[in-house]
Amino acid sequence: MFPKALVFIFLVKLVASSNHGFIFNGFRGANLSLNGLGDITPEGLLRLTNFTKEALGHAFYPLPLHLKNSSTGTVLSFSTTFVFVLQPQINYEQVCGHGIAFTISHSKNLPGALPSQYFGLFNSTNNESKENHIVAIEFDTVQNLDLGDINDNHVGIDINSLKSVNSTPVSYVDDKDGVLKNLTLVSGNPMQVWIDYSAMDMKLDVVISPLGVPKPKHSLLSTKLVNLSTVILDGMYVGFSASNGAATSSHYILGWSFSINGKAQDLDISQLPSVPQQGESKKKSSLLLIVALALVTAILLLLLCTGGIILILRRRKKYAEVLEEWEVEFGPHRFSYKDLFKATKGFKEENLLGAGGFGQVYEGLLPGSKMEIAVKKISHESRQGMREFVSEIVSMGRLRHRNLVQLLGYCRRQGELLLVYDLMPNGSLDKFLFSKTKPSLNWSQRFQVIKGVASGLLYLHEEWEQVVVHRDIKASNVLLDSEFNARLSDFGLARLYDHGSNPQTTRMVGTIGYLAPELSKTGKATTSTDVYAFGAFILEVACGRRPLEMRSTGESTPGLVDIVLDYWKKGVILNAKDPKVGSNYVEEEMELVLKLGLLCSHPEPTRRPSMRQVVRFLEGDAPLLVSPDSFSASASAVNCDDASDNIILSYPSISHTTSATDSVLEDISLMH
Ligand SMILES: *[C@@H]1O[C@H](CO)[C@@H](O)[C@H](O)[C@H]1NC(C)=O
Ligand SMILES: *[C@@H]1O[C@H](CO)[C@@H](O)[C@H](O)[C@H]1NC(C)=O
Ligand SMILES: *[C@@H]1O[C@H](CO)[C@@H](O)[C@H](O)[C@H]1NC(C)=O
Ligand SMILES: *[C@@H]1O[C@H](CO)[C@@H](O)[C@H](O)[C@H]1NC(C)=O
Ligand SMILES: *[C@@H]1O[C@H](CO)[C@@H](O)[C@H](O)[C@H]1NC(C)=O
Ligand SMILES: *[C@@H]1O[C@H](CO)[C@@H](O)[C@H](O)[C@H]1NC(C)=O
Ligand SMILES: *[C@@H]1O[C@H](CO)[C@@H](O)[C@H](O)[C@H]1NC(C)=O
Repeated sequence: MFPKALVFIFLVKLVASSNHGFIFNGFRGANLSLNGLGDITPEGLLRLTNFTKEALGHAFYPLPLHLKNSSTGTVLSFSTTFVFVLQPQINYEQVCGHGIAFTISHSKNLPGALPSQYFGLFNSTNNESKENHIVAIEFDTVQNLDLGDINDNHVGIDINSLKSVNSTPVSYVDDKDGVLKNLTLVSGNPMQVWIDYSAMDMKLDVVISPLGVPKPKHSLLSTKLVNLSTVILDGMYVGFSASNGAATSSHYILGWSFSINGKAQDLDISQLPSVPQQGESKKKSSLLLIVALALVTAILLLLLCTGGIILILRRRKKYAEVLEEWEVEFGPHRFSYKDLFKATKGFKEENLLGAGGFGQVYEGLLPGSKMEIAVKKISHESRQGMREFVSEIVSMGRLRHRNLVQLLGYCRRQGELLLVYDLMPNGSLDKFLFSKTKPSLNWSQRFQVIKGVASGLLYLHEEWEQVVVHRDIKASNVLLDSEFNARLSDFGLARLYDHGSNPQTTRMVGTIGYLAPELSKTGKATTSTDVYAFGAFILEVACGRRPLEMRSTGESTPGLVDIVLDYWKKGVILNAKDPKVGSNYVEEEMELVLKLGLLCSHPEPTRRPSMRQVVRFLEGDAPLLVSPDSFSASASAVNCDDASDNIILSYPSISHTTSATDSVLEDISLMH
């Protein structure tokens, strides 16, 4: 009993929420109840029939709607609008399928219904039965004298029967010039219909116009006293039915909205899919026909070209990107904006992973390859140096290391640069250190992360063909892959940023607390300033604190370096560790990391080790021999006043300078 009750409540909720109405600007991914030939094409068209003979197609909104006031039992007002195309079969101009009907029905399957003149709604026994509970607005393209059809191009209101209550030839009054214009339903042209039922005066209005012409004020068919109270039951389905007989048309719906007790939402015409042109049709042997066919094809081709050009122009605007000739050589590294747009669902908020100093990052799924990516969007005004810039990105794409986030490629738009990376499922390390929503990392994970970052940085500094200075090492720039391996991200971005920033606005590159003191004097980023930041970073990981923390009053607390150094001098360096690590850790490793952090953060650049030495210390290949006294005379390692000035670091991140100092090791051996 209990689960049933739950299901019931759930359904009622769905139904209640659907009562406000719905809208489909194209049907891609739409959940409709389809029947017969009814189908949703990959372009997002709702196709009710193709050119199959004696066939029908149904499509209904999957949930029943309450079109009656549950307390008074009176029928509610409703309003709908939709766009359709009735495509005639080429070279059968005179004959076509039967047409399309907007349908309100008690059943969404319409069992026993027949195609042809029965419109997919009725059959020969129930064509006039009150048991049907069907209201249909038919767009009828075949004249059937038995049913009293007025012509082969009319709109009719059908209640439980194919004999229309009221009908009229299809036309519209153009509000621009007040002239009545005839419309041919089976023209292959999209047309928009508005159907409004006012419960108060039981008035049903139908208006039609070619797509793009605003809703005409003058109703095509306005019928009063359409009493639906016995036809409409509680829980009705709304949708469409279409049918073909011996002759055929393709029946399409492009967009549809429906609303109860209110005006149907306007469709967004720009989003509607378009109907594909017909393929080759059956050949007739007559020469005349072939000539006629050739002519028609030529005209169609012309139309297709114009249509295509309009389409291309429209798409080009949406997906516009900047692609210059010199970029051809970078082709394989270039992503199309369209793919990135699709991958990130149009850079939707829900795909936003985060926003940092360099721009927003979105997650995405590449169409086609189904590869998970992260797309970084950097606003980029200056066009100067674009070429070196892109070639740098591309060369950074060649950097390959298990502790670097792989840069896959780029795309350029006006004022925007997009960088495409491998997606790191676990996000950034700082969340695991500081956010209360993520579990804290244990010591072995943290030590693994530290070793990983060291290894990645060694690769950047010494093992690649050029020296790459990262310039912004910190926990939020370290990402974790699915196995919690550390991956450095954003390498080289500092350089991109320099190019992109407006020379008038000075922006600081790097982050306070990680900036080596000499940076504020020389402004030169070197491998040694990277080592400084790495020192701050590993202290951050071991202590679970940021290098500099601000009090609520705005003043800064003692820097992390000073805190750790203080504990060390008191002989209790392990007290500096992050309490969240607990007791499950290796003391020697913790001690090594804390001391190494201090050494890397040494205010004297020459006293800092190189990354190669750092890696050797971490791997236990060399002992770290250092005493707290070697830091004694030095000023506080982090000078906030210096660092908080805006610094422009225009020194290139990729340069051919020789890196770290080989003499540090001697320095260290002197230190005990
Ligand atoms: C479509 O809607 C129906 C009715 O709400 C639901 O039962 C069904 O699971 C939906 N199908 C999909 C694929 O969402
Ligand atoms: C129409 O669609 C049906 C079902 O998808 C398919 O089997 C048939 O070949 C199609 N016919 C034409 C003429 O396209
Ligand atoms: C149903 O009718 C009652 C009484 O006239 C009215 O108060 C209520 O708003 C109506 N409900 C809807 C959904 O129209
Ligand atoms: C007509 O449809 C009804 C159900 O709507 C069904 O019971 C009946 O058998 C059908 N008649 C024929 C001749 O198919
Ligand atoms: C409609 O139904 C009536 C009575 O049930 C029947 O006499 C008539 O032939 C049917 N019309 C068509 C077109 O099937
Ligand atoms: C429009 O159609 C009606 C009847 O269908 C016809 O009488 C009228 O002449 C047509 N008007 C034009 C301008 O074609
Ligand atoms: C509508 O039809 C119902 C049932 O036949 C009837 O009771 C009601 O009076 C009618 N309403 C109007 C306004 O004619």
